[in-house]
Amino acid sequence: MEAQITDYSMSVDQGNLLDLARQFVSILPLDRLSNAGIERSRESYFLNISYPSLQAMKSVRPEEIFTNCCRINQEPSPVALYVHIPFCSSLCSYCHYYKLLKPTALRVTEYLTALSQEVALTFQHHGKVKYRSLYVGGGTPSLLTFDQIRQLFETLNTVAEPSNDATEVSFEVHPENASPELFSLLRNLGVNRLNIGVESFDDRILASENRRHSRDDALRAFKIATEAGFTNINIDCIYGLRHQTLESWSDTLDTIAILAPASFCAYYLRLKQGTPEYKRFLHQPEEFASEADLLTMHAMTFLKLYSMGYSQETVDWFIRDRKYFHEYQDHNWQKTDTVPLVGLGVSAYSYQNGWQYYNHNDLAKYIQAVANGVLPIWRGERLDGDERIRRAVMLGIKSKINRKEFSAVYGVDPACVFAEDFARMSELDLVSVSQSTIGLTELGKLFADEVGQAFYSETMKRRMGQLDPSLISTTLPRFNPHD
Ligand SMILES: C[S@@+](CC[C@H](N)C(=O)[O-])C[C@H]1O[C@@H](n2cnc3c(N)ncnc32)[C@H](O)[C@@H]1O
Ligand code: SF4
Repeated sequence: MEAQITDYSMSVDQGNLLDLARQFVSILPLDRLSNAGIERSRESYFLNISYPSLQAMKSVRPEEIFTNCCRINQEPSPVALYVHIPFCSSLCSYCHYYKLLKPTALRVTEYLTALSQEVALTFQHHGKVKYRSLYVGGGTPSLLTFDQIRQLFETLNTVAEPSNDATEVSFEVHPENASPELFSLLRNLGVNRLNIGVESFDDRILASENRRHSRDDALRAFKIATEAGFTNINIDCIYGLRHQTLESWSDTLDTIAILAPASFCAYYLRLKQGTPEYKRFLHQPEEFASEADLLTMHAMTFLKLYSMGYSQETVDWFIRDRKYFHEYQDHNWQKTDTVPLVGLGVSAYSYQNGWQYYNHNDLAKYIQAVANGVLPIWRGERLDGDERIRRAVMLGIKSKINRKEFSAVYGVDPACVFAEDFARMSELDLVSVSQSTIGLTELGKLFADEVGQAFYSETMKRRMGQLDPSLISTTLPRFNPHD
């Protein structure tokens, strides 16, 4: 039976949040789901952001994409732009993103030059393209000097412009870089959404993760961003970090309640091989919350956020008001075949016209490629009709699929194409199919990525299964034996 959380949402207060969350978790049919192959654990948790995953993707000749992809051949429709700035002032223990520690000024200059070469190559056959959203992420874009940030926007402005006055322009900020001057500069450059990486409001955890900022620094960053006039501020936190207890997570949620940011992301910790966090987990698992406590943290999150009037837009992302809906996220997951994603920079990924591809995740290779006048594409492939539909369902189900809109783009109703899968998932109370939409139930939201992985084709499962685990730095999904 689906757990009825809506009954609880109005009655959360400080005292009973933990009790309610535990009550929710206690009625979850975990054994039944596990027997059906749906379970989440740190060893197997895999975040669906692309299909096939990077690990399973083939090497590709950039010319193949250059000649076949829509951004080259035709006038593109307004795009979603992503720019990766791969530099950090310290390496956080849990982080697996591509980044370089404490770059020299020369290294940053070289990178920004290479980025401008990639931008020129990418858009060489177009006049100015319009973007529907722009996301500058990393790494730590806020680590750039003011001149470098200006230079970055100048580079982008030569080839692209916002599609309208309200176009979303996001910029990731690390609390240690926050200053009134930085926020004023960003506003002048057109940034209207900040993503502040806080991760935890617990000083002990921040120190243990090598975050180089304190709880007070994070509070200050939020305050001065607000004073600078930003209203659309997202805060990122992670649950499952080393030393994180239910009490500590509860305190982080209380702090979120006081700040009431426009939106809040609560990520389940991804433990990737090669990170210090992963090694600690192997050697000192007792320093980490149990799987049961992780479920409880997740339940605490949505119970608390619902009680504050936030809505859950995807599994880990909550907004205070519709006006803070994150367009870039939506372009990536729901409008994936109608808004081309153009990823720029080392390790960035793109999806256009059925082509999914990744740039080199090695700075030297990236710089060399663009210096030679070649797009810095490392891996990629084109998805055919069936695989493209699977990808759209897998990503779309993270929020909600509109059946009519889906049919208009793909020519099929996913509820019909995957009738058996959805019947099985409805039976497990993971998915709810109505006349107009397909979405996750409250239970399903705990397992969004696992539900999505049920849509891998047999071919793709085989490819994932053939990967050598010792050569890849990530966990991989365990496929449902009943599929
Ligand atoms: C690529 S990071 C960039 C953030 C920025 N550099 C900072 O630290 O403030 C974007 C977000 O991904 C999330 N993240 C990074 N590593 C993660 C992991 N191993 N598991 C879950 N979330 C993670 C964090 O919440 C982080 O804020
Ligand atoms: S979380 Fe942010 S600051 Fe920390 S290593 Fe990752 S990208 Fe760098």
